[in-house]
Amino acid sequence: MLEEELDSQELLYEGKGKKLYRGSQEEEVIAYFKDDLTAFNAEKKGQEKGKGILNCQISSILFELLETHGIQTHFIRKLGDNCMVCKRVNIIPIEVVVRNVATGSLTKRLGIKEGTILPQALVEFYYKDDALSDPIINDEHAILLGCVSHTRDLEFLRLQARKVNQVLVGFFNKRDLRLIDFKLEFGKDKADKIILADEISPDSCRFWDKTSNEKLDKDRFRQDLGGVKLAYEEVLKRITTIK
Ligand code: TMP
Ligand code: ASP
Repeated sequence: MLEEELDSQELLYEGKGKKLYRGSQEEEVIAYFKDDLTAFNAEKKGQEKGKGILNCQISSILFELLETHGIQTHFIRKLGDNCMVCKRVNIIPIEVVVRNVATGSLTKRLGIKEGTILPQALVEFYYKDDALSDPIINDEHAILLGCVSHTRDLEFLRLQARKVNQVLVGFFNKRDLRLIDFKLEFGKDKADKIILADEISPDSCRFWDKTSNEKLDKDRFRQDLGGVKLAYEEVLKRITTIK
């Protein structure tokens, strides 16, 4: 679907990777996946033609997979190549990061050696606030900031994040990809139920090839490694190739 075709719809929100438009039903939104790439809190900007389509396809498949494992998500259906019809939610301003292997900000912050396999998946919360560069927070900060009202909601986020990790690690392992880490966002639906939202794609995950450890995600853009689109295409190819 072309961006112009959505112009008649009301733009509700524009983020770094997606635009959200009003859907045809009150409880629906249309997420349009952009070709824009940003890193380091948008200090670094780029574009990769066709990336939006790839992320939309990858995300749709992964949301459907998670639904079959009993994890509720905002995904309703795909619309064209680069749009997704989603349930309308109020996003909880917490980025839930799950890590299986140390890299990225974890190695920088705590000095854990790059590539160290963590004894168990580590779940971290970051406050979703660009002006503050998404700082890491603990449960008390999350309550203090009003991200959620109850500690039990934070426990639910952690539980869901671990379930997602368990499903995705197995799924990608069969496709010769190591799921190194990823970021999830959740929202509250009209019944106040917390469901998985946003996207799950090479923009929000790190994937390393099982044999070569080649990076097949947005680190190719962050670290100027080149071949960004090829890497995303490879991820989609492996996801759709049944083993
Ligand atoms: P980090 O190592 O930079 O903290 O990133 C951890 C994971 O979260 C990695 O898979 C990339 C993802 N991520 C996002 O999706 N958005 C962000 O803004 C950041 C900082 C990380
Ligand atoms: N998503 C963040 C940005 O767009 C950071 C990142 O993914 O590296 O700047």
